[in-house]
Amino acid sequence: MNAKPAAVPAKSELEAFWMPFTANRQFKANPRLLARAEGMHYWTAEGRRILDAVAGLWCVNAGHGRREIADAVAAQLATMEFAPTFQMGHPAAFELANRLAAIAPPGLDRIFFTNSGSESVDTALKIAIAYQRARGQASRFRVIGREKGYHGVGFGGISVGGIVNNRKFFAASMLPGVDHLPHTLSLEHNAFSRGLPQWGAHLANELERLIALHDASTIAAVIVEPISGSAGVILPPVGYLKRLREICDKHDILLIFDEVITGFGRIGSPFAAQAFEVTPDLMTTAKGLTNGAIPMGAVFAARKIYDAFMQGPEQTIELFHGYTYSAHPAACAAALATLDIYAREGLLTRAAELAPRMEEAVHSLRGLPGVIDTRNCGLIGAVELEPRSGRPGSRGYDVFLKCFERGVMVRQTGDIIALSPPLIVEPAQLATIAEVLGGAIRDTA
Ligand SMILES: Cc1ncc(COP(=O)(O)O)c(C=O)c1O
Repeated sequence: MNAKPAAVPAKSELEAFWMPFTANRQFKANPRLLARAEGMHYWTAEGRRILDAVAGLWCVNAGHGRREIADAVAAQLATMEFAPTFQMGHPAAFELANRLAAIAPPGLDRIFFTNSGSESVDTALKIAIAYQRARGQASRFRVIGREKGYHGVGFGGISVGGIVNNRKFFAASMLPGVDHLPHTLSLEHNAFSRGLPQWGAHLANELERLIALHDASTIAAVIVEPISGSAGVILPPVGYLKRLREICDKHDILLIFDEVITGFGRIGSPFAAQAFEVTPDLMTTAKGLTNGAIPMGAVFAARKIYDAFMQGPEQTIELFHGYTYSAHPAACAAALATLDIYAREGLLTRAAELAPRMEEAVHSLRGLPGVIDTRNCGLIGAVELEPRSGRPGSRGYDVFLKCFERGVMVRQTGDIIALSPPLIVEPAQLATIAEVLGGAIRDTA
């Protein structure tokens, strides 16, 4: 079913590809090449089997090698490889929007298609700002993000994001008027919490401080990840997101949830908004939408936002925004097949059943040398390691590498190891992941 093992390229053949978010020279000196995948596993180009503890990159939620998705994409490409969605349409795009609206949080039933999480974020920011203008509040141009937030790599996303390495080179080119809430990670108060931490809901009140500083009449929207993934798994304290929602409502500010990693079942509901019972006005998604098979993103908008644009002469293009590949037919086919799998196999709620096993696995690592925190929610887990003096990130990298050598792929962010396995993971595989990770932590201490 899968392709035969690939030929391993010579080192000299690795130069042309400028790899994203990669230490290129380090990687090319000691490459890790994946050649095929099925179920919970990858196989390296040398034929070694690797247990995937991160769903590729938080996206392969239904596991690898899903024949139904490949067949749907092949059939679509054979029928019609491309159709524009500017002043034209094709049936699968409308079908997919309806299917997504049906699993969305209440009222978020207007869907704008993109090709990635970054594009979803920049689209949502543009919709938020344009919405304020459309309803006669053009003075609301500011967007509030959060420290340590990751919202992709577009100029909008890095402006509201709060990861210094993504920002420092581009400081002069950022969106104007952006401010940031404090992040909610506190080892002092919340280390080794099981599930959502109890301390920290009051940090949402910092939004009132920013509103007092800038005035609500200048603020279009607040954007946060319900759970930050890329910054190393930062969980919302109990009550925090509800408080943010209340403050936004009080001041008529839009709330955007970036659900690029939490969307499509990661914490036991289709979206984190449902799991946390907080409904945003806009929601950004990508990754799990197509099981990672074809690039695609989607922005979910509240009806009131869409309706605010639907005024003026009918021949007017209401929103000057879109991508050539918005609702690409092959991506729509992949997404529809993915949603079928999710529904048939109950995957959008499976993380709720497995959460206790994930919790057990992650917290079994408490007490190992250098482990300063373990945290979890749904099928997300993280282990934070004490940084080595003067060499931040080196310990995390060594653990990541050791795990890979021993057949488990984890994700490293600095000295934090993140786990987000496909939602088809079996409890025994969660135990294996913890065992291999624990061994790697011990052996690199
Ligand atoms: C919360 C969040 N937003 C946006 C993105 C960017 O997505 P992409 O890499 O598809 O542009 C990511 C990627 O990890 C993410 O975690």
